[in-house]
Amino acid sequence: MTPVSDFLTLEGVSKTYRAAGSEVQAVEQAAFTVPSGQFLSILGPSGCGKSTLLSMIGGLETPSTGEIIIGGEPVKAPRGDMGYVFQDATLLPWFSVLDNVLFPVRLRDGRTEAYRERARELLESVGLWEFRDKRPDQLSGGMRQRVAICRALITDPQILLMDEPFSALDAISRDEMNVALAAIWDRFHKTAIFVTHSIREAVFLSDRILVMSRRPSAICHDVMVPFPRPREAQIESDPDFVRLCGTLRDKIEEGYKG
Ligand SMILES: Nc1ncnc2c1ncn2[C@@H]1O[C@H](COP(=O)(O)OP(=O)(O)O)[C@@H](O)[C@H]1O
Ligand SMILES: [Mg+2]
Repeated sequence: MTPVSDFLTLEGVSKTYRAAGSEVQAVEQAAFTVPSGQFLSILGPSGCGKSTLLSMIGGLETPSTGEIIIGGEPVKAPRGDMGYVFQDATLLPWFSVLDNVLFPVRLRDGRTEAYRERARELLESVGLWEFRDKRPDQLSGGMRQRVAICRALITDPQILLMDEPFSALDAISRDEMNVALAAIWDRFHKTAIFVTHSIREAVFLSDRILVMSRRPSAICHDVMVPFPRPREAQIESDPDFVRLCGTLRDKIEEGYKG
């Protein structure tokens, strides 16, 4: 096994939004470290500050206090070695699937030919290579999100940030996407931070889960997920899986009561 090192560190990170005379404390004193290669989920109810936390890790928002360090460097702005997947796939409608996947390369240096083989490998791994010439409006919602994941991975980023990427999908597509993401992660094995309000999704995908309580939003629980990989859908009926979901539900409810 390769030794794991602390890849991402948050020290006393808080965020207060100030607008029109009012203040919202969106994140309070978040402090944790993530080793390289870990799949970490941040789980909590809507409005508890998950997206804010992820945006700060991604360098899209600046913390009000504290510091975020990735690979030894303080985060001051969005990094080039980071892939982001949002709730909406945000594909370019006039580009083909393949050109959407290659878009970050086109923006960076235009050398898309050099990345065509990687694009093929990524699209094949999610079963979409044969759809490479289709446009986004010819795909289902789940397929579009798979394209968005391939696009996030095309430049071989160090870290993959995902903000509720499957929450707009129906339940069946969502289950399929969880299996697809688990498979792609097993293959490309990036440090991943995955934001969700679905307990089941977090347990299925993660090595570790942080539970965020209601505002002012602090991390109230930090749990390792012990199930071996590769994981298959049937794991969800395993009594240990069900028990862990129950424990997390209790922790979220405790967080609600504050
Ligand atoms: N840009 C902003 N300006 C002011 N308040 C914001 C902004 N973004 C988020 N908030 C507030 O911060 C809190 C946390 O929001 P968010 O991080 O989006 O939560 P979550 O992703 O868990 O649903 C909410 O009360 C939200 O209204
Ligand atoms: Mg959010």
